[in-house]
Amino acid sequence: MKRETVIVLDFGGQYNQLIARRVRESNVYCEIYSYKTGLEKVREIKPKGIILTGGPNSCYEPGAPSIDPELFSLGIPVLGICYGAQLMMHLLGGKVEQAPLREYGKIEVSVYPHSPMFREVSEKTICWMSHNDYISQPAPGFHVTAWTENCPVAAVEDGSRKLYALQFHPEVLHTRDGKKMLYNFVREICGCSGDWRMDSFVEESIRNLREKIGSGRVLLALSGGVDSSVAAVLLSRAVGSQLTCVFVDHGLLRKDEGDEVEAVFGPEGPYDLQFIRVNAQQRFYDRLKGVEEPEEKRKIIGEEFIRVFEEEAKKSGAVDYLGQGTIYPDVVESGLGGESAVIKSHHNVGGLPDYVDFKEIIEPLRNLFKDEVRQAGLQLGLPEQLVFRQPFPGPGLGIRIIGEITAEKVRMVQEADAIWREEIQKAGVARKVNQYFAALSNMRSVGVMGDERTYDYAVVLRAVTTTDFMTAESADIPWEVIGNATNRIINEVKNVNRVLYDCTGKPPATIELE
Ligand code: XMP
Repeated sequence: MKRETVIVLDFGGQYNQLIARRVRESNVYCEIYSYKTGLEKVREIKPKGIILTGGPNSCYEPGAPSIDPELFSLGIPVLGICYGAQLMMHLLGGKVEQAPLREYGKIEVSVYPHSPMFREVSEKTICWMSHNDYISQPAPGFHVTAWTENCPVAAVEDGSRKLYALQFHPEVLHTRDGKKMLYNFVREICGCSGDWRMDSFVEESIRNLREKIGSGRVLLALSGGVDSSVAAVLLSRAVGSQLTCVFVDHGLLRKDEGDEVEAVFGPEGPYDLQFIRVNAQQRFYDRLKGVEEPEEKRKIIGEEFIRVFEEEAKKSGAVDYLGQGTIYPDVVESGLGGESAVIKSHHNVGGLPDYVDFKEIIEPLRNLFKDEVRQAGLQLGLPEQLVFRQPFPGPGLGIRIIGEITAEKVRMVQEADAIWREEIQKAGVARKVNQYFAALSNMRSVGVMGDERTYDYAVVLRAVTTTDFMTAESADIPWEVIGNATNRIINEVKNVNRVLYDCTGKPPATIELE
């Protein structure tokens, strides 16, 4: 049975993943494609609805990203958001111009309550606007269904053709009724029944994995993080002892993490897996020697990972598939899904070498967002403590040590990080932050300890609050907690004489330092 799908055509806007997530929160499966996706492909996917995203361009400029206007005549409901709304108007005979007043931020919007887009939305609501251009004249056949003080056309629709356009962003949380609007679009206007649920995903995946793998053998990269742990349990449910989990200790893990992972997934743990631990610390340090550039470090760590797996595969006999815990945001952020700029290449995807000595790569979570992975983990009976573990990047401490990586720097950051995590937990603030860790700056500075001059490294403490890891705020940690951690780090971690707290949000920074 084909799953009901809504597709998002990506014009490069920064909130595009959020659109897909909100749609899925309405229990409708959603995928992101580039705006360049041809009509043939769209027909093949047979989506129940199409959403055109925002983007940085002006649709009337020569060479601006566009689509075949035929898309609006397929009989499939289309929702344009921001740039997508303007493009729809532009292509269908309306007028888009530079706005006399740029609108940015939370704006009060009046909506026409009888529009199906605004069912159960209050007549005056708050929406998130971010645009330089505006729709000065709707295309023929459309009528205005929302407006603001400065923007006469905040939403338009042509119900007979099932075409809808919003100048604001319903996908961001600042738009108070945005989730409801997207629900209205996918469930009411597109008529989706809401068949995307985690229990059915788990059952369906197990069935599909069994069918695909047959009697083949799978080698899975297990890091002990949420993603690869859920992938491991999903695969072991599907093919049992045909699965071998390889855990590579690349020497860039958090303090004691290697032993912790072994305790859970190794022979003493509760799971029925074949578990191999590879201690490859020195090998990674050797490859990373002298390398300072963040993307290069990521690529090297990713490549070395694959090499280690290839070797393990050879040692343990023929292996047909390589399993990985790649999730949807990795795919999209690596520029493989939509049009959004490549921010960082995630080591699961971007760093994959051309030559891989396996028949195929299996990524059972490739289509899931993080919160969906967690739900799947709970469905599969994984302990909550593991499921809600804070994220840890694939390249590990490699991207929390600015500049060249050495064993000595790894030790410093491991110890400082363990202290910071302990202090945050002890103070009871762990619940209020979504990710917290220590990093090592490449800065050395002068200090004084006892009567001695020191010239040592500076540790950076980071703690952020975020709902989706796409944007984040630096967390307001009580000074006392920062103070305690600082004292302990200076006293307990050799070669560190300064501790800094990172006050930057994302944007403009990212959560990790590299
Ligand atoms: P950034 O630094 O991009 O981080 O704001 C967002 C979230 O993603 C994690 N992260 C990674 N995870 N491989 C991963 O598996 C990576 O290369 C990577 N880089 C960042 C980061 O810890 C944060 O939760």
